[in-house]
Amino acid sequence: MTPPDFSALYANHLATLKQRADEALSRGGLEYLVVPSGTQHYQVFDDRDYPYAVNPQFKHWLPLTRVPNSWLVYSPGNKPKAIYYQPFDYWHVVPDAPSGWWVEHFDIVIIRKPEEALQHLPSDAARCAILGEPQSTLGAAPDQRFQPNNPQAVIDYLEYQRAFKTPYEVAMMREATRAGVRAHRAAEAAFRAGNSEFDIHLAYCAAARQDAGELPYNNIVALNRNGAVLHYTELGRVAPQPVRSFLIDAGASFHGYACDITRTYATDTAGEFQAMIDAVDAAQLSMCAQVRAGVDYKQLHLDAHLALGGILRDFGLINISPEAALANGVSNVFFPHGIGHGIGLQVHDVAGFAATDHGGTIAKPQGHPYLRLTRVLEPGMAVTIEPGIYFIDMLLEDLKKNGNAEAVDWARVDAFRPYGGIRIEDDVVCTGAAPINLTREGFAEAA
Ligand code: GLY
Ligand code: MN
Ligand code: MN
Repeated sequence: MTPPDFSALYANHLATLKQRADEALSRGGLEYLVVPSGTQHYQVFDDRDYPYAVNPQFKHWLPLTRVPNSWLVYSPGNKPKAIYYQPFDYWHVVPDAPSGWWVEHFDIVIIRKPEEALQHLPSDAARCAILGEPQSTLGAAPDQRFQPNNPQAVIDYLEYQRAFKTPYEVAMMREATRAGVRAHRAAEAAFRAGNSEFDIHLAYCAAARQDAGELPYNNIVALNRNGAVLHYTELGRVAPQPVRSFLIDAGASFHGYACDITRTYATDTAGEFQAMIDAVDAAQLSMCAQVRAGVDYKQLHLDAHLALGGILRDFGLINISPEAALANGVSNVFFPHGIGHGIGLQVHDVAGFAATDHGGTIAKPQGHPYLRLTRVLEPGMAVTIEPGIYFIDMLLEDLKKNGNAEAVDWARVDAFRPYGGIRIEDDVVCTGAAPINLTREGFAEAA
């Protein structure tokens, strides 16, 4: 299959980034945007490196995730420059020579040592917004002048605007989703065949054609009660007996963009846990349909509590109204995380609380400390919608003690505890009209 041609989308994407950079630099009173790709990090007292994580500000401009010690330099009205690190090295595979649809848009200089970048950077560092990690990328000749200064006015503007994805970015996320969906289907098959969490994880990676270092976050592969641990990343080597349920929260990457997908499965597809999965799935689809311009994401979160409270009541787990469960915190026990977050270059994208592109913060609703996004949705925003219902011993024990114990049918809770929990998560793009559900489209395409 010929790879898709992203060149036209990329050209428009770059035009948007230049406009944003022009405005950001003017706000910072600066002339150059200078973005190091970042450095390799090493384990303490060891020469072993951690997986390299490229600076998101760099991969926004360039579809390059494996080129440390490189730089982007842009100044308004000029062709951007890519200072591209390609060492002479016989210990490692060095980055390929620059190629692909991005190349024609940049003046490219190749450097063989990190410190060679200095001669290609603007001469006056004081006129640069240098965005990056604290340490310099200049290798053996660290130059204090080119330590990232991360000017707040520049960062505020760029991060706020990053919520609005260009069509190129949506295309990248669609490709990431294709890999993620392929892998989710393989993982479900591995679960149904009775595999351990570890073996399901390997089946996932094999189908995604990505290993753990390339995935946008650590896979959550949870059988039975492990689904109640929100960030369960243990990967048990032996499958429990019997296997009742499977929660998998796993993504994939494409040119630095992420997808973030969760599915939950029951072994017994005619049982009550499957019925609850189906109920959460239907509620989740209604929530996804609310990803529309002008909708307050905070309200979406609170509405999710009401929808999930209704499911808890319908399944006999609570005997109070969804409104009461939201008001007295009972719904928080079963749904103790946010409804989702922005997604893009980072699985939890930046500026979720940004009030404006000049800074400021939109507070979370009181009693909901784990919500990661409080902005009003606008076209171009990409968000996850990930409601869940969990049976978490620690939170249930607290509830027993805090005076709301009688709101809960504990025998029903005990019946569901062995299944751990349910989460259904899709990635959804807000448009001027109906939302684009990248995840559902991906599963439909793969069916
Ligand atoms: N996979 C992390 C999250 O869903 O936020
Ligand atoms: Mn998520
Ligand atoms: Mn997730």
